Amino acid sequence: MEIRIEAHVAHVAVSAADVLESYVRSGPVTLGLATGSTPVPTYRELIRRHREEGLSFARSRAFLLDEYVGLARSHPESYYSVIRSEFVSHVDLADTAVQSPAGQAADPEQEAARYEAAIRSAGGVDVQVLGIGSNGHIGFNEPGEHLDSRTHVGLLAEQTRTDNARFFESIDDVPRRCITQGLGTIREARHLLLIATGAAKADALAAALHGPVTSDCPASVLQLHDHVTVIADKAAASRLQRAGCGAA
Ligand code: GLP
Repeated sequence: MEIRIEAHVAHVAVSAADVLESYVRSGPVTLGLATGSTPVPTYRELIRRHREEGLSFARSRAFLLDEYVGLARSHPESYYSVIRSEFVSHVDLADTAVQSPAGQAADPEQEAARYEAAIRSAGGVDVQVLGIGSNGHIGFNEPGEHLDSRTHVGLLAEQTRTDNARFFESIDDVPRRCITQGLGTIREARHLLLIATGAAKADALAAALHGPVTSDCPASVLQLHDHVTVIADKAAASRLQRAGCGAA
């Protein structure tokens, strides 16, 4: 596992964009994209490179990690909409090349199985962007999730609903269910790129990287993967214990 600690969020974005750019320039690639606020500066940096440096996503395709159940695609907080407004609409990544679970599917369980199969039939994900929840979740795999789980319908933890209420008018508007790639699904991506910024992630990041591998901290499955890059700012890295990593 490579852990990069950067002084500022802007440097985190550049460092994460460097990893993604190397894949995008290498040929046809399948990206795993995350939503949430953490990757937004990275997406902005990739958009800048597209506009100013000719970085092209024309040969890329992408799968999202997760989606709220019950939100229409047109809802501004559906992850279908968010990934387009924050990233996809601003680069030459074809809209049809970006897949996500359908949160309004009549049968969400069936949709989860369809999505799992779609990722597999595409040959899997080359590099998966991940954020981390303040409770250690990745995707929407909440504490208690089986470490080998596949794409499934899940319940959002109350902590997650509270954390995500800032995107909605009130917490009552935050959906209770989601479709998320499972921890086993995420682990099949060939390279995991976890981005963490801000002091609110410090405990979760330390538990994920230094604590036991346990379903109590879903992000601890990173320890089971042989190709992981973690990029954190100093605040998120402040509880990491590794000597020489620059954590302040
Ligand atoms: C959200 C998403 C995750 C994301 C995490 C952290 O609920 N489902 O994919 O990584 O929680 O979000 P943020 O980056 O906004 O802190």
